[in-house]
Amino acid sequence: MLNFLKKQKPANQLYDFTLMIRDIHCHLLPGIDDGSPDVETSIELIKSLSAVGITRFICTPHVIGDMFRNTPETINASLAILKKACHDNQLNVELSAAAEYMLDDYFLELLQKKSPLLTLTKNYLLTELSFATSPINLEKIAFELNINGYAPIMAHPERYVFYHKNYNAYHRMKELGFLLQVNLLSISGYYGKATARAAKYIVENNLADFIGTDLHHFNHLRALTNPRNMKIFHQVLGDKVYNGFDN
Ligand SMILES: [Fe+2]
Repeated sequence: MLNFLKKQKPANQLYDFTLMIRDIHCHLLPGIDDGSPDVETSIELIKSLSAVGITRFICTPHVIGDMFRNTPETINASLAILKKACHDNQLNVELSAAAEYMLDDYFLELLQKKSPLLTLTKNYLLTELSFATSPINLEKIAFELNINGYAPIMAHPERYVFYHKNYNAYHRMKELGFLLQVNLLSISGYYGKATARAAKYIVENNLADFIGTDLHHFNHLRALTNPRNMKIFHQVLGDKVYNGFDN
């Protein structure tokens, strides 16, 4: 066949992961939540992520009152193990740790007791909602976060099914002082079509302040690095740079 005579369609561009200066939401710390179970897995995940250009990570294990009561001590201990393993494996990556705080009663207790919370940097605090029910007290929580000096970031607002018929909720969150972090995988439909639509709405209406992998395991890794999905990330996010903070 005269292949060279066939008009080639221009290849759709793949998303360039280096446009995400750092991953601000991932579950790579070994053994302390539903993310990586052990340090060997964490190392394999980090090797693969580095290979596609993600080399700076702020690890954000869950803090959930009735499931994962992680503390700065449990998180920093796991971080130290992973840092050492990266060093031993000659992985040239930048690792730090914060947490992903579920906005539950336990969180309000921590806030009221002025317990030290782990921020991404400065006063940026990663928070999430339960997937099960719409929060009744988001205004109150936002107020408490605000008077305690935190700049809250809402993790994956597009994944909360109860907002899929009410996109005004995203605008309302911003009014309440939340910055919004969209999951890359939401954009490609990994969590379903309605979540993908919501993610695109948030990005296209300039409501997305951050993006993240929210990577827990190898299935997430495979989906993130799937060329079909990388084309969709590029179509939706373009060449915009995210997660730089001030550097
Ligand atoms: Fe997460």
